[in-house]
Amino acid sequence: MAKTIKVGVVGAGFIGVYHLEKYQKCTGSEVVAVCDVDAERAKAAAEKFDVPKTFTSVGRMLAMKEIDAISVCTPNIDHMKSTLKALSAGKHVLCEKPIAMNARQAQTMIDAARKAKKKLMVALNNRFRADTQFVKRIIEKGRIGKPYYARSLSIRRRGVPSWGVFGQKKLQGGGPLIDIGVHMIDMTWYLMGCPKPVAVSGKTYETIGATPGHVGEFGLWDYKTYDVEDFTVALVRFANGATMMIESAFCVNLDKNVFGCHVVGDKGGAGIGPLSVQIQECGHLMDCTPGDIPKNDQYQAEIDAFVDAVAHNKPVPVPATEAIWTTKIIDAIYASSKANKEIRLR
Ligand SMILES: NC(=O)c1ccc[n+]([C@@H]2O[C@H](COP(=O)([O-])OP(=O)(O)OC[C@H]3O[C@@H](n4cnc5c(N)ncnc54)[C@H](O)[C@@H]3O)[C@@H](O)[C@H]2O)c1
Repeated sequence: MAKTIKVGVVGAGFIGVYHLEKYQKCTGSEVVAVCDVDAERAKAAAEKFDVPKTFTSVGRMLAMKEIDAISVCTPNIDHMKSTLKALSAGKHVLCEKPIAMNARQAQTMIDAARKAKKKLMVALNNRFRADTQFVKRIIEKGRIGKPYYARSLSIRRRGVPSWGVFGQKKLQGGGPLIDIGVHMIDMTWYLMGCPKPVAVSGKTYETIGATPGHVGEFGLWDYKTYDVEDFTVALVRFANGATMMIESAFCVNLDKNVFGCHVVGDKGGAGIGPLSVQIQECGHLMDCTPGDIPKNDQYQAEIDAFVDAVAHNKPVPVPATEAIWTTKIIDAIYASSKANKEIRLR
């Protein structure tokens, strides 16, 4: 029988609490410590999830020899710092998305994981959805043919988080593109078969978020500290000739919120949010969306997969070496918008 994986969680905010709950439900893991710079938050989370030790410094938590792995659930600005500390202390890491503020930081993390011979997985939970896995199987079986175009949409009409630091560029690295865009770009790219991006053209807009008088789905946000983009549109070209169109927003004057993607091949198409499948048969494009895919707990599936990889020394299902490509695309979109030209990727 595999040993129980002992885990420490860094950051006990919105997503940290999810990690705590899922590790405690996972049969192969046990949370032994929680760390937050806010001592009260760490204490409240520890009480709720029956965690024996709390810390306000990740360094002190990492001194616990029994910890095998940590989850990094802090704002983006801390992802690299906590991950590097954990790797050099010999711990495996599950890092929240985006892997880092930019691809340069992500590469430093990848190099450190390689050197430490420890696992580094990125929490891109949308890959673990039952509908995503179904579409992945359909595409891998060749049912839509060769994917050549995809749309990746993460649009909130008025959805600036009213908690955390999501509107602050220096702490997050960007706005909706790096926060929610990262989920859908990664999921779309994964469904397309992870083609190599070669060029990116994008434009960001700043029209609403930093101005007063708007109420969003999460209530009022701090418009005074808001200095990230509201909306982004971009086109990514891949080495195999395929393209991906991206739209991402915290606030935009469109007709509806969308969080999904659609992948188009030469024999059909398939998408998520909502799930839909089109397949060409007898000269017609048929709608063949299944109606019986049960919703799963994508966060539980992600944590279970990470724990399983650590416990059985298997490759992690979302390695940092894959996650870095979405971050390279995002970096290039911001650079393209700033420079007003297409950016080539290597
Ligand atoms: N996968 C998802 O669906 C999902 C959802 C929400 C957030 N996230 C990601 O999770 C991260 C955190 O987001 P959140 O919504 O939980 O934010 P949050 O503000 O609710 O929580 C962050 C917590 O980290 C603590 N913290 C900050 N710096 C720290 C440090 N150096 N050491 C220890 N604790 C520290 C804060 O006090 C806070 O409690 C972000 O990177 C975000 O992109 C992922």
